Amino acid sequence: MCGIVGLISKTDIVDGLVNGLEKLEYRGYDSAGIFVDSNGTKDYLIKTKGGIKELKSEMMTTGNVRGTRGIGHTRWATHGFPTKENAHPHVSYDGRFVLVHNGVIENFQMIQSDLLQTDWMQGQTDTEMIVHLIAKFAQEDHLSAKEAFLKVLAMIEGSYAFALIDRLEPEVLYGAKNKSPLLVAIGDQFNGLCSDALAMTGLTQEFMEIKDKELIIATKDTVTIENYEGHHQSRKSFEFSTGSNEIELGSYDCYMMKEIEEQPAVMRKIVSAYTTENGQVAIDERIISSLLASDRIYIIACGTSWHAGLIGKNLLEKLAEIPTEVHLSSEFGYHTPLLSEKPFFIYLSQSGETADSRQVLVQTNKWAYPSLTITNVLGSTLSREASFTLPLYAGPEIAVASTKAYTAQIAVLSILASVVGRAKKIMAAETFDVASELSLAAHQMDTLLTKQGKYQDLVEKMLKQTRNAFFIGRGADYSVSLEGALKLKEISYLQCEGFASGELKHGTIALIEERTPVFALITGQSTHLQTRSNLKEVESRGAATCAIVMEDLAQEGDDIILPKVHELFTPLMSVLPTQLIAYYTALMKGNNVDKPRNLAKSVTVE
Ligand code: F6R
Repeated sequence: MCGIVGLISKTDIVDGLVNGLEKLEYRGYDSAGIFVDSNGTKDYLIKTKGGIKELKSEMMTTGNVRGTRGIGHTRWATHGFPTKENAHPHVSYDGRFVLVHNGVIENFQMIQSDLLQTDWMQGQTDTEMIVHLIAKFAQEDHLSAKEAFLKVLAMIEGSYAFALIDRLEPEVLYGAKNKSPLLVAIGDQFNGLCSDALAMTGLTQEFMEIKDKELIIATKDTVTIENYEGHHQSRKSFEFSTGSNEIELGSYDCYMMKEIEEQPAVMRKIVSAYTTENGQVAIDERIISSLLASDRIYIIACGTSWHAGLIGKNLLEKLAEIPTEVHLSSEFGYHTPLLSEKPFFIYLSQSGETADSRQVLVQTNKWAYPSLTITNVLGSTLSREASFTLPLYAGPEIAVASTKAYTAQIAVLSILASVVGRAKKIMAAETFDVASELSLAAHQMDTLLTKQGKYQDLVEKMLKQTRNAFFIGRGADYSVSLEGALKLKEISYLQCEGFASGELKHGTIALIEERTPVFALITGQSTHLQTRSNLKEVESRGAATCAIVMEDLAQEGDDIILPKVHELFTPLMSVLPTQLIAYYTALMKGNNVDKPRNLAKSVTVE
């Protein structure tokens, strides 16, 4: 949610700043803005409603925007409408300080009414309040920028990553963070701040992590990290590289289709990354020992990752025989269930930055329980703060609607379950060749994805005239139905629900009318007949139906046939048509496929 970038350099930073914002646009695209200056001479504040495209055209109108220091922001609104007034950067009432912020200040109302003059506020954001307060303390208490910033940081509660400019100190860029992500970027004769490393693609691959409640003081040549008590914090840098070709669209019109079609390659990459030189699938022995010592796994995740966790539960229980619970992070944190004696926590998160999941991790770290983050972003907060990390190897996922991260999470969980199951000598794991079954799934995914011809007609027929739709299934098909429904609602804006098909007759079937679209997922050997009966029940009440069926269970008249894979991997296949249905529906409706309304890719507020 919201992306921030800051750069301070010997040379011009404007292109770097705007390119960085473009890379972070997936975090929010309601409004955007930059502030740029050079050694206290001419400066520019450019803000706009909309995304980076609109920002660039504002910059063209301004003409020749140049500078050696700058901060920028791409916004997902939390406080205040997505207007130009509420766009960041915000400038203090006296014009001295300029600030960008990602996060939510929780005690905003209280501070505002106690300390600020209402006529200072131009918009309705919590960020604006912060910058006025810094200016007020600097002026009234005769504090330096750093002292005034620290005074404000000590007062505020909530999540934040800030980049701050003091116009009276042209050589310095300040930053601070709590709960929201922020990295220091180290360059050759420049330094920077960014919400994630992607923002610095092409500029640098060297970064430093910032911990909560730390202050950064950067110049073009130096970076100092201090805690809020003023103690210097030494920090090693780390390398993070993203091949720029991985984030280019190439011949695609949008990232979502690129990412859907990358899934077979991601499966192959995962197999190869987790296979050792002697051809065995393996993971860090410490993870295996820690899991063997546990009596229950708690998977903590949100949204699509939570849906992948539901499939993971099945894999872990079947292959490793460890009881597994799957929890929504936002629920678990505040309504913690009774835990087993030796819990092991798995955090599933594409971004590794989801605030709801992080608050659970902070708590479980306090309890000193072992934890594993499975993420696509090494070096992300959840990866750094968990005991262990397993990478997804999916490559950057840019489209807001998650596709390849979901299948990658299932693949990595299957490797984990199978390796632990083999260590426990569980028969189901010993007879399951995870690498070759995943490779087969990759091949079958390729086959399915080459046959996209029918989807346009299918969605025209089933979804053009409707306001709602259902996905139904049992077992793993039910879990995939939840994911299919989420994907469709996210990018088509149709009201869509996933249901356990047996549950329909207990209430939901009342919603079925003439031509209500119902997609049935039928891949389970033990449940296909029951789901077919449920499909007949809705058909006889007028529903327009589409059966998505595993090859060996197919009957004449079925709409989409899934090439055969191992029964544990049917979700890797059945999810693909649901992704394509969502994609083609969004196209049909003329929606922005990659950047659906109201959403952001990395959800860094609770
Ligand atoms: C849906 C989607 C979201 C994310 C959720 C968790 O397409 O992308 O539901 O899955 O916000 O995000 P991560 O996995 O980054 O923790």
